[in-house]
Formats: sequence, C-alpha cells, structure tokens
Amino acid sequence: MMDPEQPFRVDIIVANDKNRGIGLNGTLPWSIPAETNYYHGMINHVSSPDKQNAVIFGRITFQSIRDAHDYEKLLKVVVTREAASTQPTDRNLHYVPTFQAATEYLQIERERERRNIETVWVLGGSRIYDEALRSPYLHRVYLTTVQGEFACDTHFPEFDRTHFGIVNDPRVPVGVQTDNGISFQVEVLERKSDQAAPPNIDLLV
Ligand SMILES: NC(=O)c1ccc[n+]([C@@H]2O[C@H](COP(=O)([O-])OP(=O)(O)OC[C@H]3O[C@@H](n4cnc5c(N)ncnc54)[C@H](OP(=O)(O)O)[C@@H]3O)[C@@H](O)[C@H]2O)c1
Repeated sequence: MMDPEQPFRVDIIVANDKNRGIGLNGTLPWSIPAETNYYHGMINHVSSPDKQNAVIFGRITFQSIRDAHDYEKLLKVVVTREAASTQPTDRNLHYVPTFQAATEYLQIERERERRNIETVWVLGGSRIYDEALRSPYLHRVYLTTVQGEFACDTHFPEFDRTHFGIVNDPRVPVGVQTDNGISFQVEVLERKSDQAAPPNIDLLV
C-alpha cells in the first residue's frame, strides 16, 4: 500500500501455469472462481473508502474486462499505441502510449492532482509485465501458480527470483487452494532493497 509520504511504487498481480502461460485467445486459459475472487478482492482492497486503487494494463487485457463491475471503482490506465486518438469515457479511464507514461501519469495524479491512490496494480499482459519487472518502481509480485499445463498463447516473462524474498500478506490465501478441479497457490514476492533498479533518468530531468 502507498501513502503520499511513501515513494511511488507498483505491484504486479498475475496467475500463471507451470509453463508461465497466462492467456489464450484474449482471455484466461482456465476457470477458477476462487482465484478470480481473490484477484478482484486484492485489486479493489483499500484501507478506507476515500482511497482508490489504480490499475495499468495493455489494451487487450483492458478489452477483456472493460464492462466488468469489479473494475468500476478503479482508476484504469490503458497502454495503447492509439492513446493520442482514443478519448476516455470517464474520469476513471486514461489512455497512455507507454508503460513509462502510465507511471508518470499516476505520479502526477497522486501528487499534483492529489488523488488518494493507495495501490497501483500492474495487470499485464506480457509486455506490460516485462516492463514492470524492469521498472525502478516495482515493489511486489503477487504470483499465483496454477498447477498443471494449459494451452496458452501468452506468457509471463522469465525473471530472476533471487532478486525477491517471500513475504506474508494476510489478504492472500495460504497453501494450496483447489476450485473447479484446479489447484493453485499464491506467493508474494517482494523485491530486495539492494536489487532496486537505478532511477529512471528521464524522470529526473
Ligand atoms: N493470467 C493472468 O494473470 C493474466 C493477466 C493479464 C492478461 N492475461 C491474458 O493475457 C492476454 C492479453 O495479454 P497480451 O500480452 O496479449 O496483451 P496486452 O498487454 O493486454 O495488450 C497488448 C496491447 O497493449 C498495447 N501495448 C502493450 N504494451 C505496450 C507498450 N509497451 N507500448 C505501447 N502499447 C503497448 C498494444 O495495444 P495497441 O495494439 O492498441 O497499440 C498491444 O497490442 C489475454 O489472454 C489475457 O486474458 C492473463
């Protein structure tokens, strides 16, 4: 969680199978209601009603959820090459051309516009996750591993787990969970402070 005194940071949340598969044909490769409920609970959880979470996602992931009730209250930042020509339809929707532009926009909203943003969640897909894993702002990866192998056309990037330590978050289910005949487990990986990426030069000028 982020308070205005804290440095800006982002958290990844993702579910992948044993081959790092995350998606098929623009949607999820599995149906696991308990995992979906956990995910929606996490991205919507705020410590008080005056706070709001933000999400960053690519255009395809956004389109897969765009009318879903669980995203209504979130400040949604969509990464698309068409950002300049896409008009947002409400105050909680914003289009940007790059992942870096998404983090810059959210820092301005938090500081200059005084939006009470608590957590910034990175929701994928592949390239957005890859940029978040390299970002100096990455704090945690909420990593669900779905047991088994699924047909997938989209994958979570490989990353060096030695740069992270496992931490507890009381909101996360402990141990192996099973629903709809599929088992999954959630780990919370926190980047070690000595692994912080160098500051982004563009943001310092
Ligand atoms: N299991 C999970 O936790 C999870 C999480 C997220 C997504 N998914 C699944 O993954 C699939 C979608 O992921 P995806 O990787 O195919 O697509 P995506 O990242 O959701 O969307 C790709 C699009 O986003 C824009 N984009 C992404 N990175 C960009 C960048 N750096 N600069 C400019 N534009 C960028 C481009 O939009 P334009 O074409 O408009 O320029 C690109 O075509 C779906 O199947 C979804 O269900 C699964």
